[in-house]
Amino acid sequence: MPLRRDLEDIGHAWGTLADTDPLWAICVDPAHRHGRWDPQAFYASGEVEVAQALSRAEGLGMAVSGRRALDFGCGAGRLTRPLAARFETAVGVDIAQEMLDLAARDNPVASRCEFVRNTEPDLRVFADGEFDLIYSSFVLQHLSPRLIAVYLAEFARVLRPGGSLIVDLPTRARWNVKGMGYRLLPPPALGFVQRRLLGYPAPMRMHGMTERRTRDWLSAHDVDVLAVEPESRHPGWHMLRYFARHRP
Ligand SMILES: C[S@@+](CC[C@H](N)C(=O)[O-])C[C@H]1O[C@@H](n2cnc3c(N)ncnc32)[C@H](O)[C@@H]1O
Repeated sequence: MPLRRDLEDIGHAWGTLADTDPLWAICVDPAHRHGRWDPQAFYASGEVEVAQALSRAEGLGMAVSGRRALDFGCGAGRLTRPLAARFETAVGVDIAQEMLDLAARDNPVASRCEFVRNTEPDLRVFADGEFDLIYSSFVLQHLSPRLIAVYLAEFARVLRPGGSLIVDLPTRARWNVKGMGYRLLPPPALGFVQRRLLGYPAPMRMHGMTERRTRDWLSAHDVDVLAVEPESRHPGWHMLRYFARHRP
């Protein structure tokens, strides 16, 4: 499928998810379905996540403050807001306008945030070396492997030399009930199960990339992985969090 068409499908699905049950679609948890996420708890989870990730990055000698941070796939701004406390400006980019509207609403740090819609299979909306840090959590997994590669290369381009990258990516589905569905069912069948049996408003696709390929691809784009840590939030997938730095 051409990249642009693929992205249109993804944008359409996320627009529907954002319209129907946005906070649940961002932090999937059956207990919080049908609007049952308390917004305060939702945003507090972002504070905790960013504090932990930046503290780990700082321990690795990575830059964790500066002028501009990019939150790729920002959703409702759960992570953009805490990033704005540490950078002059935090830029949240998302494919779904409905998510960006939510991110901008009742935002206590609005003056330090910018929200940008991007529906292109690249980040040409941003200049080379524009960002001190790029953070992307629970986003790339929803894109096809070709799109994952494209955006990782774009992260490298828009990151300044010496800048920091923190990104979550799955490697492969687990051998459990949830993971088996992803392993065994072709995408249309998986979409059917998600919509008809699980009642999802739109399908949530999942893809992974091996650690070796991710490291090699980043390295080929002048980004060195400093540490890789397991991320346990997805019940059906082995997830990794990469801490990386653009070669100075
Ligand atoms: C699971 S949510 C995660 C949101 C946020 N990172 C967080 O952890 O709170 C995934 C987000 O990625 C966005 N997204 C999916 N594909 C995208 C793309 N190609 N470009 C930008 N955003 C995208 C979706 O619209 C959605 O808001």
